Amino acid sequence: MINLAFESSCDDFSCAVLLKENSENDSVKIKILSNIIYSQDYVHGIYGGVVPELASRNHIKAFLPAFRIALSEAEISMEDVGLVSATAGPGLVGSLLIGLMCAKTISYALNIPIVPVNHIEGHIFSPFLDIKENKEIFPFAALVISGGHTHLYLVNSHSDIKLIGKTRDDACGELFDKVSNYLGFGYPGGKTVDELAEKGDKRAFKFPLPMIRSNDLNMSFSGLKTAVINTIDENGGPKNIKKNVVYDILASLRESVSEILFKKTSAACEAFRVKNVAVSGGVSANSRIRSMFKERGEESGLKIFFPSVKYTTDNAAMIGYAGFFKNAIDPSVRRSEFLDINADPSWEL
Ligand code: KG4
Ligand code: ZN
Repeated sequence: MINLAFESSCDDFSCAVLLKENSENDSVKIKILSNIIYSQDYVHGIYGGVVPELASRNHIKAFLPAFRIALSEAEISMEDVGLVSATAGPGLVGSLLIGLMCAKTISYALNIPIVPVNHIEGHIFSPFLDIKENKEIFPFAALVISGGHTHLYLVNSHSDIKLIGKTRDDACGELFDKVSNYLGFGYPGGKTVDELAEKGDKRAFKFPLPMIRSNDLNMSFSGLKTAVINTIDENGGPKNIKKNVVYDILASLRESVSEILFKKTSAACEAFRVKNVAVSGGVSANSRIRSMFKERGEESGLKIFFPSVKYTTDNAAMIGYAGFFKNAIDPSVRRSEFLDINADPSWEL
């Protein structure tokens, strides 16, 4: 079965082709035949954040080339497609509508089923895109860390996902982006912060770890952001601060964020008695978060899964992957349900 997937929840347009094969022993093998991503970083960078109207306009431009290249890289034609998946929320409504309407049109024209997929669900299962999934991964704790999310879930199955903790204010990607903007390194800044932090001393500054001792699984990052900005100001401000002090601040910031995320995730594992952890979202590309989870996870007897870096940011492969495990809507059989498919910008799992 070939699944054509679309993702357009924020500022990246992506189209992917996936193949599902059923093997003899009833196990399922999913192959990613293509995964095309049109990033709009260059469009929004100068504004220091995503401009929703520009995101939708650029998705319209990206759709046809992304779609054509995805089919040609996968070496398939439209007639080979048996299923369409698309992100239906959460995200920016104007952005979501573009990918979803493209998918609905293809589904209707080819008379093939469509699956509306939750974007966060796509991230949650992205660490398993490259490995053969089997039932042993359940239950697991899922930490989704991106520009808009810092959420912890307990995942018992593809259809049983519970929110167990989240940030009360900024998402951790948002924190990296705001510090990067303040220092003049531009948006999005997570990757730059990560690279510069490599040159600094992670013990140089002691930043607060907000809510680390709260008796729940919630988190907070805005106090940490204020502490970092105050430290930059005390050391000459963004224009006059010495380079090596910037590196030390960023290394210490990255260490504090990793510490908060690991402590909360391991507390979730203890509370729900789970041993598997899946970390996903754009921020899961961070090298220190990866190394701390691997080192300390191993010490605590946890099995940690990260996606390959290419699947950390928004992509359609993860939407298609989640789509294979969801109920599809057949336009000819369930016509009224098909017509009701709409974008839901605040769709909660
Ligand atoms: O998942 P994603 O592509 O989009 C959202 O749904 O938000 O995540 C984007 C976020 C941005 O905040 C970006 O700065 C951050 O991921 N990011 C990183 C790294 N690479 C991207 N943050 C920390 N370290 C990185 N290496
Ligand atoms: Zn995302």
